[in-house]
Amino acid sequence: MPAEIKSLIEQIEAIGQAALSEIGSAEGSAGLEELRVRHMGKKSALSQALSGLKDIPGEERKSVGQVANQVKSRIKDALGARLADVEAAERNSQLGSESIDVTLAGRPLPEGRLHPLTRILTEIEDIFIGMGFELASGPDMEHEYQNFDALNIPEAHPARDMHDTFYLHGGGVLRTHTSPVQIRTMQNRTPPMAILAPGKAYRCENADNTHSPVFHQVEGFMIDRKVRFSDLKGVLSEFLRQLLGPDIKYRFRPSYFPFTEPSAEVDILWSVDGRKPDWMEVLGSGMIHPNVLEAGGVDRDQYSGFAFGLGVERFAMLKYGIPSIRLFYENDLRFLGQF
Ligand code: PHE
Repeated sequence: MPAEIKSLIEQIEAIGQAALSEIGSAEGSAGLEELRVRHMGKKSALSQALSGLKDIPGEERKSVGQVANQVKSRIKDALGARLADVEAAERNSQLGSESIDVTLAGRPLPEGRLHPLTRILTEIEDIFIGMGFELASGPDMEHEYQNFDALNIPEAHPARDMHDTFYLHGGGVLRTHTSPVQIRTMQNRTPPMAILAPGKAYRCENADNTHSPVFHQVEGFMIDRKVRFSDLKGVLSEFLRQLLGPDIKYRFRPSYFPFTEPSAEVDILWSVDGRKPDWMEVLGSGMIHPNVLEAGGVDRDQYSGFAFGLGVERFAMLKYGIPSIRLFYENDLRFLGQF
Protein backbone atom coordinates (compact mmCIF):
# COMPACT_ATOMS: atom_id res chain seq x y z
CA MET A 1 0.00 0.00 0.00
CA PRO A 2 1.50 3.27 -1.06
CA ALA A 3 2.60 5.56 1.70
CA GLU A 4 0.21 8.41 0.86
CA ILE A 5 -2.79 6.03 0.97
CA LYS A 6 -1.63 4.73 4.35
CA SER A 7 -1.29 8.22 5.68
CA LEU A 8 -4.73 9.16 4.32
CA ILE A 9 -6.23 6.18 6.17
CA GLU A 10 -4.42 7.21 9.38
CA GLN A 11 -5.67 10.76 8.88
CA ILE A 12 -9.26 9.50 8.51
CA GLU A 13 -8.94 7.39 11.66
CA ALA A 14 -7.44 10.29 13.57
CA ILE A 15 -10.38 12.49 12.48
CA GLY A 16 -12.70 9.75 13.71
CA GLN A 17 -10.94 9.48 17.10
CA ALA A 18 -11.04 13.24 17.59
CA ALA A 19 -14.77 13.33 16.70
CA LEU A 20 -15.61 10.44 19.05
CA SER A 21 -13.83 12.03 21.97
CA GLU A 22 -15.59 15.36 21.36
CA ILE A 23 -18.97 13.57 21.17
CA GLY A 24 -18.22 11.62 24.34
CA SER A 25 -17.77 14.80 26.35
CA ALA A 26 -20.52 16.87 24.65
CA GLU A 27 -23.06 18.48 27.01
CA GLY A 28 -26.66 19.07 26.03
CA SER A 29 -28.64 18.31 22.89
CA ALA A 30 -27.79 21.70 21.34
CA GLY A 31 -24.05 20.99 21.66
CA LEU A 32 -24.52 17.56 20.04
CA GLU A 33 -26.43 19.06 17.11
CA GLU A 34 -23.52 21.44 16.54
CA LEU A 35 -21.10 18.45 16.55
CA ARG A 36 -23.32 16.55 14.13
CA VAL A 37 -23.17 19.40 11.62
CA ARG A 38 -19.42 19.74 12.10
CA HIS A 39 -18.55 16.03 11.77
CA MET A 40 -21.20 14.70 9.38
CA GLY A 41 -21.86 17.71 7.17
CA LYS A 42 -20.47 18.54 3.71
CA LYS A 43 -17.74 20.72 5.20
CA SER A 44 -16.57 18.18 7.79
CA ALA A 45 -12.88 17.31 8.17
CA LEU A 46 -13.78 13.85 6.93
CA SER A 47 -15.39 15.14 3.71
CA GLN A 48 -12.40 17.37 3.16
CA ALA A 49 -9.97 14.46 3.68
CA LEU A 50 -11.96 12.39 1.15
CA SER A 51 -12.15 15.16 -1.44
CA GLY A 52 -9.14 13.69 -3.34
CA LEU A 53 -10.57 10.14 -3.32
CA LYS A 54 -11.72 10.22 -6.94
CA ASP A 55 -8.08 10.58 -8.04
CA ILE A 56 -7.05 7.36 -6.28
CA PRO A 57 -7.04 4.17 -8.36
CA GLY A 58 -9.64 1.35 -7.88
CA GLU A 59 -8.40 -1.16 -5.22
CA GLU A 60 -6.92 1.48 -2.99
CA ARG A 61 -9.91 3.79 -3.29
CA LYS A 62 -12.02 0.89 -2.04
CA SER A 63 -9.99 0.35 1.12
CA VAL A 64 -9.91 4.07 1.89
CA GLY A 65 -13.67 4.22 1.26
CA GLN A 66 -14.27 1.26 3.62
CA VAL A 67 -12.32 2.90 6.42
CA ALA A 68 -14.09 6.19 5.78
CA ASN A 69 -17.52 4.49 5.93
CA GLN A 70 -16.65 2.71 9.16
CA VAL A 71 -15.46 5.96 10.71
CA LYS A 72 -18.62 7.73 9.50
CA SER A 73 -20.90 5.10 10.93
CA ARG A 74 -19.02 5.06 14.22
CA ILE A 75 -19.41 8.83 14.46
CA LYS A 76 -23.13 8.48 13.60
CA ASP A 77 -23.66 5.74 16.19
CA ALA A 78 -21.76 7.71 18.82
CA LEU A 79 -23.85 10.80 18.09
CA GLY A 80 -27.08 8.74 18.34
CA ALA A 81 -26.07 7.05 21.57
CA ARG A 82 -24.87 10.26 23.18
CA LEU A 83 -28.01 12.11 22.09
CA ALA A 84 -30.18 9.42 23.69
CA ASP A 85 -28.21 9.76 26.96
CA VAL A 86 -28.28 13.54 26.93
CA GLU A 87 -32.01 13.66 26.17
CA ALA A 88 -32.76 11.16 28.91
CA ALA A 89 -30.73 13.23 31.37
CA GLU A 90 -32.49 16.41 30.28
CA ARG A 91 -35.91 14.78 30.64
CA ASN A 92 -35.02 13.43 34.08
CA SER A 93 -33.84 16.75 35.35
CA GLN A 94 -36.99 18.43 34.00
CA LEU A 95 -39.21 15.81 35.65
CA GLY A 96 -37.22 16.16 38.82
CA SER A 97 -37.66 19.90 38.96
CA GLU A 98 -41.38 19.69 38.15
CA SER A 99 -42.22 16.89 40.52
CA ILE A 100 -44.99 17.26 43.10
CA ASP A 101 -44.81 15.26 46.28
CA VAL A 102 -48.44 14.29 46.75
CA THR A 103 -47.64 12.76 50.13
CA LEU A 104 -46.43 16.08 51.55
CA ALA A 105 -48.52 17.28 54.50
CA GLY A 106 -50.69 20.37 53.76
CA ARG A 107 -49.96 23.76 55.26
CA PRO A 108 -52.22 24.23 58.29
CA LEU A 109 -54.76 27.06 58.01
CA PRO A 110 -55.52 28.99 61.21
CA GLU A 111 -58.80 27.71 62.57
CA GLY A 112 -61.62 30.15 63.21
CA ARG A 113 -63.28 30.15 66.61
CA LEU A 114 -66.45 31.39 68.18
CA HIS A 115 -66.07 34.57 70.21
CA PRO A 116 -66.47 33.83 73.94
CA LEU A 117 -69.55 36.07 74.03
CA THR A 118 -71.14 34.06 71.22
CA ARG A 119 -70.32 30.86 73.08
CA ILE A 120 -71.78 31.93 76.41
CA LEU A 121 -74.84 33.39 74.66
CA THR A 122 -75.50 30.08 72.90
CA GLU A 123 -75.23 28.27 76.24
CA ILE A 124 -77.60 30.72 77.93
CA GLU A 125 -80.13 30.42 75.11
CA ASP A 126 -79.96 26.62 75.13
CA ILE A 127 -80.70 26.48 78.87
CA PHE A 128 -83.77 28.74 78.64
CA ILE A 129 -85.01 27.11 75.43
CA GLY A 130 -84.75 23.84 77.36
CA MET A 131 -87.15 25.35 79.93
CA GLY A 132 -89.65 26.31 77.23
CA PHE A 133 -88.63 29.91 76.45
CA GLU A 134 -88.93 31.30 72.91
CA LEU A 135 -86.53 33.80 71.32
CA ALA A 136 -87.55 37.36 70.40
CA SER A 137 -85.73 40.56 69.50
CA GLY A 138 -86.17 44.30 69.16
CA PRO A 139 -84.32 47.26 67.60
CA ASP A 140 -81.17 48.86 69.06
CA MET A 141 -82.55 52.33 68.21
CA GLU A 142 -85.60 52.69 70.38
CA HIS A 143 -88.34 55.20 71.06
CA GLU A 144 -88.07 56.89 74.43
CA TYR A 145 -91.58 55.63 75.08
CA GLN A 146 -90.60 51.94 74.77
CA ASN A 147 -87.28 52.37 76.56
CA PHE A 148 -88.67 54.41 79.48
CA ASP A 149 -92.33 55.50 79.67
CA ALA A 150 -93.91 52.12 78.92
CA LEU A 151 -91.57 50.61 81.50
CA ASN A 152 -92.98 52.87 84.21
CA ILE A 153 -90.14 55.39 83.99
CA PRO A 154 -91.93 58.67 83.21
CA GLU A 155 -90.12 61.81 82.11
CA ALA A 156 -88.38 63.44 85.10
CA HIS A 157 -88.45 60.16 87.03
CA PRO A 158 -85.12 59.95 88.86
CA ALA A 159 -84.62 56.45 87.44
CA ARG A 160 -83.89 57.97 84.02
CA ASP A 161 -80.68 59.28 85.53
CA MET A 162 -79.69 55.72 86.47
CA HIS A 163 -79.39 55.07 82.75
CA ASP A 164 -76.76 57.27 81.11
CA THR A 165 -78.54 57.50 77.81
CA PHE A 166 -77.25 58.06 74.28
CA TYR A 167 -79.87 60.33 72.69
CA LEU A 168 -80.20 60.22 68.89
CA HIS A 169 -80.45 63.26 66.61
CA GLY A 170 -84.06 63.61 65.54
CA GLY A 171 -85.42 61.75 68.56
CA GLY A 172 -85.14 58.28 70.01
CA VAL A 173 -82.37 56.67 72.02
CA LEU A 174 -79.96 53.77 71.81
CA ARG A 175 -81.77 51.38 74.10
CA THR A 176 -80.26 51.41 77.57
CA HIS A 177 -81.47 47.87 78.27
CA THR A 178 -83.28 45.05 76.50
CA SER A 179 -86.43 45.58 78.57
CA PRO A 180 -88.28 47.46 75.76
CA VAL A 181 -88.57 44.06 74.06
CA GLN A 182 -90.98 43.17 76.90
CA ILE A 183 -93.35 45.90 75.71
CA ARG A 184 -93.00 45.07 72.01
CA THR A 185 -93.63 41.38 72.61
CA MET A 186 -96.62 41.89 74.91
CA GLN A 187 -98.16 44.14 72.25
CA ASN A 188 -97.82 41.39 69.63
CA ARG A 189 -98.74 38.28 71.59
CA THR A 190 -101.31 37.08 74.07
CA PRO A 191 -100.34 35.27 77.28
CA PRO A 192 -99.17 32.77 78.29
CA MET A 193 -95.67 33.55 77.05
CA ALA A 194 -92.09 32.76 78.06
CA ILE A 195 -89.69 34.89 76.07
CA LEU A 196 -85.93 35.29 75.86
CA ALA A 197 -84.60 38.39 74.07
CA PRO A 198 -80.81 38.69 73.72
CA GLY A 199 -79.25 41.85 72.30
CA LYS A 200 -77.00 44.87 72.71
CA ALA A 201 -77.56 47.65 75.23
CA TYR A 202 -75.89 51.07 75.31
CA ARG A 203 -74.93 53.38 78.14
CA CYS A 204 -72.98 56.59 77.96
CA GLU A 205 -70.43 55.71 80.60
CA ASN A 206 -66.67 55.31 80.81
CA ALA A 207 -65.11 51.93 80.12
CA ASP A 208 -63.39 50.16 82.99
CA ASN A 209 -62.79 46.51 83.89
CA THR A 210 -66.50 45.84 84.45
CA HIS A 211 -68.20 48.49 82.28
CA SER A 212 -68.41 49.11 78.55
CA PRO A 213 -70.60 51.67 76.70
CA VAL A 214 -71.91 48.80 74.53
CA PHE A 215 -72.62 45.51 76.20
CA HIS A 216 -74.94 42.54 75.83
CA GLN A 217 -78.00 41.63 77.82
CA VAL A 218 -80.43 38.79 77.77
CA GLU A 219 -83.95 39.80 78.71
CA GLY A 220 -86.27 37.06 79.88
CA PHE A 221 -89.86 37.13 81.04
CA MET A 222 -92.83 34.90 81.61
CA ILE A 223 -96.46 35.96 81.77
CA ASP A 224 -99.42 33.77 82.71
CA ARG A 225 -102.19 33.55 85.25
CA LYS A 226 -100.69 33.14 88.76
CA VAL A 227 -96.99 33.53 87.96
CA ARG A 228 -95.30 34.08 91.34
CA PHE A 229 -91.97 35.20 92.73
CA SER A 230 -91.16 31.55 93.53
CA ASP A 231 -91.38 30.86 89.76
CA LEU A 232 -88.79 33.57 89.18
CA LYS A 233 -86.51 32.12 91.84
CA GLY A 234 -86.95 28.58 90.58
CA VAL A 235 -86.24 29.42 86.93
CA LEU A 236 -83.20 31.59 87.70
CA SER A 237 -81.74 29.15 90.25
CA GLU A 238 -82.07 26.31 87.75
CA PHE A 239 -80.45 28.49 85.10
CA LEU A 240 -77.50 29.41 87.35
CA ARG A 241 -76.85 25.80 88.31
CA GLN A 242 -76.99 24.61 84.70
CA LEU A 243 -74.67 27.35 83.47
CA LEU A 244 -72.17 27.57 86.33
CA GLY A 245 -72.42 24.18 88.04
CA PRO A 246 -74.20 22.87 91.17
CA ASP A 247 -71.67 24.40 93.58
CA ILE A 248 -72.16 28.00 92.44
CA LYS A 249 -72.79 30.47 95.30
CA TYR A 250 -75.43 33.07 94.51
CA ARG A 251 -77.82 35.32 96.41
CA PHE A 252 -81.04 37.17 95.65
CA ARG A 253 -80.68 40.68 97.05
CA PRO A 254 -83.71 43.03 97.33
CA SER A 255 -83.44 45.88 94.87
CA TYR A 256 -85.45 48.46 92.98
CA PHE A 257 -86.48 48.80 89.33
CA PRO A 258 -89.44 50.96 88.25
CA PHE A 259 -90.72 48.17 85.98
CA THR A 260 -90.74 45.38 88.57
CA GLU A 261 -92.24 45.09 92.03
CA PRO A 262 -90.86 43.47 94.08
CA SER A 263 -87.39 43.50 92.56
CA ALA A 264 -84.24 41.55 93.24
CA GLU A 265 -80.73 41.47 91.94
CA VAL A 266 -78.66 38.31 91.80
CA ASP A 267 -75.02 38.38 92.90
CA ILE A 268 -72.54 35.59 92.39
CA LEU A 269 -69.53 34.86 94.56
CA TRP A 270 -66.62 35.37 92.22
CA SER A 271 -62.89 35.10 92.50
CA VAL A 272 -60.44 35.76 89.72
CA ASP A 273 -56.67 35.19 89.65
CA GLY A 274 -56.76 33.75 93.18
CA ARG A 275 -57.99 37.02 94.66
CA LYS A 276 -60.35 37.06 97.66
CA PRO A 277 -63.86 36.05 96.44
CA ASP A 278 -66.33 38.90 96.12
CA TRP A 279 -69.99 39.28 95.13
CA MET A 280 -70.57 40.35 91.54
CA GLU A 281 -73.96 41.54 90.37
CA VAL A 282 -75.02 39.59 87.28
CA LEU A 283 -78.71 40.26 86.78
CA GLY A 284 -81.74 42.32 87.73
CA SER A 285 -85.17 40.78 88.11
CA GLY A 286 -88.59 41.08 89.65
CA MET A 287 -92.33 40.71 89.22
CA ILE A 288 -93.48 42.76 86.22
CA HIS A 289 -95.13 45.97 87.45
CA PRO A 290 -98.91 46.08 86.67
CA ASN A 291 -98.35 49.42 84.88
CA VAL A 292 -95.95 47.66 82.50
CA LEU A 293 -98.43 44.87 81.79
CA GLU A 294 -101.01 47.54 81.04
CA ALA A 295 -98.65 49.42 78.67
CA GLY A 296 -98.09 46.13 76.86
CA GLY A 297 -101.84 45.57 76.49
CA VAL A 298 -101.98 42.69 78.98
CA ASP A 299 -104.88 42.54 81.47
CA ARG A 300 -103.23 43.46 84.78
CA ASP A 301 -105.99 41.88 86.84
CA GLN A 302 -105.85 38.49 85.13
CA TYR A 303 -102.14 38.07 84.53
CA SER A 304 -98.88 38.35 86.35
CA GLY A 305 -95.31 37.78 85.27
CA PHE A 306 -91.68 37.89 86.17
CA ALA A 307 -88.83 39.43 84.22
CA PHE A 308 -85.07 39.48 84.39
CA GLY A 309 -82.22 41.09 82.51
CA LEU A 310 -78.76 39.58 82.70
CA GLY A 311 -75.38 40.85 81.62
CA VAL A 312 -73.82 38.49 79.10
CA GLU A 313 -70.25 39.79 79.57
CA ARG A 314 -70.45 39.31 83.32
CA PHE A 315 -71.45 35.67 82.91
CA ALA A 316 -68.67 35.07 80.40
CA MET A 317 -66.17 36.63 82.85
CA LEU A 318 -67.43 34.35 85.63
CA LYS A 319 -67.55 31.19 83.57
CA TYR A 320 -64.22 31.59 81.79
CA GLY A 321 -62.32 33.46 84.53
CA ILE A 322 -61.78 36.66 82.50
CA PRO A 323 -60.54 39.59 84.62
CA SER A 324 -61.62 42.51 82.42
CA ILE A 325 -64.61 43.21 80.17
CA ARG A 326 -62.31 45.08 77.78
CA LEU A 327 -60.75 41.81 76.59
CA PHE A 328 -63.98 40.96 74.77
CA TYR A 329 -63.70 43.95 72.45
CA GLU A 330 -59.97 44.19 71.73
CA ASN A 331 -60.02 41.25 69.30
CA ASP A 332 -56.58 40.11 70.38
CA LEU A 333 -56.18 36.70 68.73
CA ARG A 334 -54.01 35.48 71.60
CA PHE A 335 -57.07 35.99 73.85
CA LEU A 336 -59.74 34.81 71.41
CA GLY A 337 -57.71 31.71 70.47
CA GLN A 338 -58.15 30.32 73.99
CA PHE A 339 -61.87 29.59 73.61
N1 PHE B 1 -83.44 46.31 82.55
C1 PHE B 1 -82.72 46.19 83.76
C2 PHE B 1 -81.33 46.78 83.59
O1 PHE B 1 -80.85 46.86 82.50
C3 PHE B 1 -82.59 44.77 84.21
C4 PHE B 1 -83.91 44.16 84.54
C5 PHE B 1 -84.63 43.51 83.55
C6 PHE B 1 -84.41 44.26 85.82
C7 PHE B 1 -85.86 42.95 83.84
C8 PHE B 1 -85.63 43.69 86.11
C9 PHE B 1 -86.33 43.03 85.17
O2 PHE B 1 -80.70 47.15 84.53
